[in-house]
Amino acid sequence: MDKSNQELNKKNIILIGFMAAGKSSVGRILARQLGWSFVDTDKEIEQVTGLRIAELFRKHGELRFRSEENLVVKKLVGRTQTVVATGGGTVLAEENWQILHELGTLIHLYVPLHVALSRVKRRQDRPLLLKKDIEIEQLWHERLKIYNQADIIIDTTDKDLATIAAEILTIWKGGQLTNAPDN
Ligand code: S3P
Repeated sequence: MDKSNQELNKKNIILIGFMAAGKSSVGRILARQLGWSFVDTDKEIEQVTGLRIAELFRKHGELRFRSEENLVVKKLVGRTQTVVATGGGTVLAEENWQILHELGTLIHLYVPLHVALSRVKRRQDRPLLLKKDIEIEQLWHERLKIYNQADIIIDTTDKDLATIAAEILTIWKGGQLTNAPDN
C-alpha cells in the first residue's frame, strides 16, 4: 500500500448537510462498503439520554440537545476508520466543526430545500421542521454557507443512496479531498 492510501485509511469520513440529505442512510452504506464502523450522532444522543430526539427537544429544549450533541462529538476524538453521520445542526457549532474537521474528511451531502421537505414525510421526528416554511427556508440558506466549506460537496438531487455512496467513494479514494469551492 502506498503512503497516500495509508493516510486515507487512517481518516474518518464525516457526513454533513441539511435534514433529510441522506447522511445516515448513505453513511451506513459507506461504512459497510469500507468495512468501517458507523456512528450516527443523533442515535448516540438517543442512547445516552434514553430519549428520542423529538422528546429531548420537547422535554429539555434545543440548548440541552446541542449540549448532548457537543459531548457526543467530543467522544469521537481518537476514532479511526469510522463513518460519522452528523445531525443537520452539528457542524454549526464552531467547536464541533473543528473537532470533526480534524477527525476526517468532511463531506457535504447537498440537498435542495424543496427536495429535503418532500423527503420528510413525518415532520414530528425532526423538531426544527415544525417551524414555519419561511423559517426553514432561512435556516437552509444560512446553513448552506457553512456546509459548503466541507472538503467535498456531493449533489444528492435525483440520485439514489447507492449512487451517492459510489460517487463519494470514487472521489474520496481518488484522493480528491479538496474539491470544495473557495467560498
Ligand atoms: C437537526 C437535525 C436532525 C437532528 C435534530 C436537529 C438540525 O438530524 O439532529 O432534529 O439542527 O438540523 P438530521 O439532519 O439527521 O435530520
